[in-house]
Amino acid sequence: MITHRTILELRTALEPLRAGSRIGLVPTMGALHEGHEALIARARSECEVVVASIFVNPAQFGASEDLDRYPRDEEGDARLAESWGVDHLFVPAVEEMYPAGFQTWVEVEGLAQNLEGAGRPGHFRGVATVCLKLFNIVRPDLAYFGRKDAQQAALVGRIARDLDLELELRIVPTVRDEDGVAVSSRNVYLSPAERAAARAIPRALEAGATAHQLGQDAAVVARAVLHEEPLLEPEYVEVAPLDGRVYLLAAVRVGRTRLIDNVVLEGDQE
Ligand code: PAJ
Repeated sequence: MITHRTILELRTALEPLRAGSRIGLVPTMGALHEGHEALIARARSECEVVVASIFVNPAQFGASEDLDRYPRDEEGDARLAESWGVDHLFVPAVEEMYPAGFQTWVEVEGLAQNLEGAGRPGHFRGVATVCLKLFNIVRPDLAYFGRKDAQQAALVGRIARDLDLELELRIVPTVRDEDGVAVSSRNVYLSPAERAAARAIPRALEAGATAHQLGQDAAVVARAVLHEEPLLEPEYVEVAPLDGRVYLLAAVRVGRTRLIDNVVLEGDQE
C-alpha cells in the first residue's frame, strides 16, 4: 500500500494503472472499523485497484459539532487499510483539499433538506463537495458507500446522475455489532451505560419494520421503543423514500453523541 498526501502524487500513481483496470474508491473519515472494512472488501472483490481516502472533512461539520474531537488514528488506520487490501491510501491535509481562495460548492436541493439536512444545515453541502472533489481526483470506475448513511448514499447517487459522472455506485449493507448497534466511528464516545442504551436504536427500528409489515405506522412504534430508554433523546424517527426504497430512519442523541441508523421497509435489502 502506498500513502499519498497530495492530489498530484495520487494522480501520478493512478495514471499508468487506468488502462485495463477498474479503480474502486472508498471515501472515509478514518477511525476505521468493520463498516469501512466491508466497503473495502467489496471494492477488493470487484476492482483491480482499490483506493481509500481518509479525510476528516471540516466542511461537513457544523460549528457546534464534533470536528475537534472526531477520533483520529492515522497509523492504526493505515495498518488496517493495508491488511484489508487497499492499494493506495489518500490522506490529504485540509489545505490540500481546501486551499486558500476555495469558494466553489455543490448544493443538492430537495434531497439535502430533510432528515440529516434539517438537523445539520450545510452538512450535505460539505459531503457533496468533498465527494465530487474525490471523484474528480481519483476518477474511479466504482465508488463504495454504506447504507448506514442512506441519505448520504442517495445524495451521492443524485450527484452522479445530475452531473453525469462516469462512475457506478455500490451501496453496502450496514455492518452491526453483536448487540445490533450499527458500527460507527462515533461509538467510541459512548460510556458503557450509553452504549447499553444505544441497543434500543436497532431494537426500535426492527420493531418499526415488523409493525410496517402488519400495516401499522413504523415511526410511531419505533418512537415508543426509544422513549422507554431514558438516556436516549430521539431527534427524528421518520419513514422516507430514498433511492427507490422506503426506509425507517432515526437520529438519536445519546449524551453528547449523535447516532444515526435505518432499516429498509420496502425494496431490496442489498
Ligand atoms: P465515514 O463516516 O468515515 O464513513 C465512510 C463510509 O463508510 C460511508 O459510506 C458510510 O456510510 C460507511 N459506513 C459507516 N459505518 C458503516 C456501517 N456500520 N456499515 C456499513 N457502512 C458503513 O460517511 C463519511 O465518512 C463521510 O461523509 C464521507 C462520505 C467520507 C465524506 O466525507
